Amino acid sequence: MQKIERIAQLRDFLRPHRERRLGLVPTMGYLHEGHLSLIRQAAKECEQVVVSVFVNPLQFGPGEDLDRYPRDLERDQKLAGEAGADILFTPGVGEMYPNGAKTTVRITGLTDRLCGASRPGHFDGVATVVSKLFHIVEPDRAYFGQKDAQQVAVIQQMVQDLNFPVEVVSCPTVREADGLAMSSRNVYLSPEERKQAAILYKTLREATREREAGRLCRAAEAVQFIRERLEKAEGLLIDYVEVLSYPELEPLDRLDGDRSIAAVAVRLGSTRLIDNVIWPQEEGTRCTSP
Ligand code: PAF
Repeated sequence: MQKIERIAQLRDFLRPHRERRLGLVPTMGYLHEGHLSLIRQAAKECEQVVVSVFVNPLQFGPGEDLDRYPRDLERDQKLAGEAGADILFTPGVGEMYPNGAKTTVRITGLTDRLCGASRPGHFDGVATVVSKLFHIVEPDRAYFGQKDAQQVAVIQQMVQDLNFPVEVVSCPTVREADGLAMSSRNVYLSPEERKQAAILYKTLREATREREAGRLCRAAEAVQFIRERLEKAEGLLIDYVEVLSYPELEPLDRLDGDRSIAAVAVRLGSTRLIDNVIWPQEEGTRCTSP
């Protein structure tokens, strides 16, 4: 596998292979099974796979964890190669934002809720860096995890609105044995917090069962059901619990019509955790610009 830091060098490297189907897996590194499942999926479907590792300062707010975000490029290179990546693209901040970020991409509406409300500017940072990566790599397909369901919705919207010729593939959340969604940020959890963290998916699963049994028919009831259980967990602070239409992220009344998302964000000590389930459950989605 080739490790490339410069945009010009990456373009030169990819130019002779443009007829090959190219997959991109954008990451911020410190790869875990969730990332590796995206890389494996990309390797199955594409002839060449680029994995980008870039901790994007633009998507971190003041006081967030930019400085302590875990990094281990050597390990990432080994894991990405074993999972089927051909190129690891590892630009520095100066390479990606040589003039700062004077031009940014903003998606309205979809970014007003959930993490967009709790982390102002976060999705502008995500959309900006992903659109830069799309321009630099020019992938046929780009792979994202459904754990960041709002991110997937935002990127799908951006791809449609800006006519990026790329298919966005969202892949199922990969979980630890106790259900905790894999995340690079899980390393921040103390052993006690790590045990507590399993409550997130356990509660979402209970709500899913209640919904499937026809005992949760309205979004407000589902929110209350999830909230009540999370509020009982010691040391856990709720940021949000919302049940919305998906991928539109609009308020909902009844749960028996449109596809919906039950999404939660909590704080356990200094760690912010998010998780979600899509109702009805699905295997992942695809979307291309019109
Ligand atoms: O999901 C992530 O790791 C990041 O938000 C992404 C898509 C790599 C953009 O920096």
